[in-house]
Amino acid sequence: MVNERPDPLCMVGAGYVGLVTAVCLADADVHVRLLDIDQARLAFLRQGKAPIHEPLLDELLTKVLANGRLTLHDDPAEAMAGAAVIMIAVGTPPLGDGRADLTQVRAAITQAVRHAGSETVIAIKSTVPPGTTASLQSLCRRNGRTVPLTVCPEFLAEGSAVRDFRQPPQVVIGGDDPAACERVAQLFGHLEAPIRITDSTSAELIKYGVNAFLALKISFINEMAQLCEFTGADVSSVADGIGTDERIGRAFLGAGLGFGGSCFPKDVRALDQAASYHGQSFQLLRAAVEVNQQARSRFVAKIQRALNGKLARRRIAVLGLAFKPGTDDVRQAASIDVIRHLEDLGAVVLATDPVACANARPLLPNTTLVDDPYSCVGGADAVVVVTEWPEYVNLDWARVATLVRRPLVVDGRNCLDADPLVELGFTYIGVGRPTRRPRTLKTPLSGAKRAAVPIAVR
Ligand code: UDX
Repeated sequence: MVNERPDPLCMVGAGYVGLVTAVCLADADVHVRLLDIDQARLAFLRQGKAPIHEPLLDELLTKVLANGRLTLHDDPAEAMAGAAVIMIAVGTPPLGDGRADLTQVRAAITQAVRHAGSETVIAIKSTVPPGTTASLQSLCRRNGRTVPLTVCPEFLAEGSAVRDFRQPPQVVIGGDDPAACERVAQLFGHLEAPIRITDSTSAELIKYGVNAFLALKISFINEMAQLCEFTGADVSSVADGIGTDERIGRAFLGAGLGFGGSCFPKDVRALDQAASYHGQSFQLLRAAVEVNQQARSRFVAKIQRALNGKLARRRIAVLGLAFKPGTDDVRQAASIDVIRHLEDLGAVVLATDPVACANARPLLPNTTLVDDPYSCVGGADAVVVVTEWPEYVNLDWARVATLVRRPLVVDGRNCLDADPLVELGFTYIGVGRPTRRPRTLKTPLSGAKRAAVPIAVR
């Protein structure tokens, strides 16, 4: 099979998706030419360093650069000449109204068509709205022939992108030329995954549908969390129960601060826009976005209530800036909205993250960002968990108890175990679960514990 694989491949765009896909295909023995116009990015990559925080990526990058399977290019003619497949992984940023901006995709296709050989197939890896590939076929005519255009959407989650590439639930390829689709499919022939070949518009909708459905699941459980708070139930237990029904599944039923990142918010809006274009009002998508926004504002209100309605001059320690653990990405992160809102209400915010402080700094000019979580919590009136990094779950909370001004933890990701915190004297407030307060005089801390956990200054 291996010698039937299309080779070489030209990947246009060394952003998140392009880089991970290029490196993983090179690691699977395809000769990959990675093309980007950003010289600084290429210079970084040449040193074997990925400009993004992604497990395994640096090692694989170093390996495939060393063995020559991956080469880096800034010249389209050089990178595209003789390529069996030209794969396009350029940005599709949202326009003001939520529609995907296809300027870079169009430019890349035009360039690919110019340099395509007689056997070249073009594959769009960027996330594009339904109907895009079919409509862009018109760009692919040259000298009386049409360069086949296919779409091959990505399903790589940040923080597990290499694993997701290697063990996907399926590979989706869309296009109206079966031979061209087959050629793209051969790139992924080494994976133990079913390959779904369909028309291009269906492939595009599968991509949006997966992300939109997962976003709906998150917003659904966040609405349930709200109901749990009203009724005294525990949303973690409710999610376990609902998720045990295998028709539903437990994944993406984690209640809390909702979804962020570069994909879910953008893709949900873009799908809604695509529906609107056809006169459809996709109510579920709008509700999901609204619930997601509410989760953030409700969380700030919760912190405010816990501090007796006063946030002015209260010192809030925020643990976690990345939109989820395992990444340094802060795009559409809950942390940014939450911190800005807290600051608008007069709070003094200190925040920390294992890897995302540098990316958050330009977005949070009034916030003190520190690398050390223990410095972050010093003198805090509330410790607020926004990203469920293992580092914060496994903090020495006894030490934290000695550093804070008030023993209050507000857990926006329901990632902490309330029992030991309450034992340490903290009040624990989660999302969709009952607030836990320290037992007071009836069950005083033992002498040993008291020595280990000096009473914080209140
Ligand atoms: C997503 C898709 O998973 C991936 O397939 C696609 O190609 C790109 O978009 P990513 O944005 O990296 O990946 O993050 P993901 O792990 O899916 O999480 C998205 C957001 O949902 C995060 O902010 C996360 O904190 C939140 N989330 C996730 C929840 O709030 N609850 C959950 O149960 C799961």
